[in-house]
Amino acid sequence: MIYEAKEFTLKNGLKVVIKTPEISDARNLLDSIINVSATSDFITSLPEDYQPYLDDISKEEAFIEGNRKSPNSYLFAVYHNDKIIGNCFLSFFGNIKTRHRGTIGIAITNEYRGMGIGSILFDEMINIAKNRSGVTQLELGVIKNNEAAKRLYTSKGFVKTGETPRALRLPNGQYLDEEMMMLMLK
Ligand SMILES: CC(C)(COP(=O)(O)OP(=O)(O)OC[C@H]1O[C@@H](n2cnc3c(N)ncnc32)[C@H](O)[C@@H]1OP(=O)(O)O)[C@@H](O)C(=O)NCCC(=O)NCCS
Repeated sequence: MIYEAKEFTLKNGLKVVIKTPEISDARNLLDSIINVSATSDFITSLPEDYQPYLDDISKEEAFIEGNRKSPNSYLFAVYHNDKIIGNCFLSFFGNIKTRHRGTIGIAITNEYRGMGIGSILFDEMINIAKNRSGVTQLELGVIKNNEAAKRLYTSKGFVKTGETPRALRLPNGQYLDEEMMMLMLK
């Protein structure tokens, strides 16, 4: 699905644009994801996981194209000037018995956290979900000690529904537990 470009002014005055990335943004998007994977233990990937995409950028282009064409998923990129400084996805299950459910993932690069971008993205995604026929709930997973993310999700109405112990194993051997959260829309 395509989310057309919208400009937002952050509380610090910075102007950002949110839109579905173009296929030509593949390297720009990859750089932003690699930044987050290098600066946060709370997402599921490490920079090394993106090496195959750096080696063959057509893989990242295919990922963007797949999201642009899919009737069930939105990929959003946040641009400051022309640089991508965050991204998130909203995807809906496609089967008859599961199409009432949507899932969310979000990642903002380190210099741009705490400026209100996550809050704006959540408002946009919740609005899309509310206006999509048949969707009644949004779900996400968050690492248990990711206080910033949990505060954002709780402020948007998400509540904890369960836990997965040892969801991530860091290179130093430390395990991190994950909490599942959900927002009931109807
Ligand atoms: C978690 C994350 C998505 C939040 O996005 P963000 O743009 O930084 O969040 P916002 O600036 O919109 O803040 C929204 C709310 O989140 C909470 N929050 C954000 N940063 C916080 C921090 N450092 N400490 C505590 N609460 C914080 C606050 O409640 C804030 O509301 P307020 O500004 O009214 O106090 C972002 O920091 C991020 O991508 N972090 C690294 C990757 C990650 O953890 N992804 C989520 C995986 S589940």
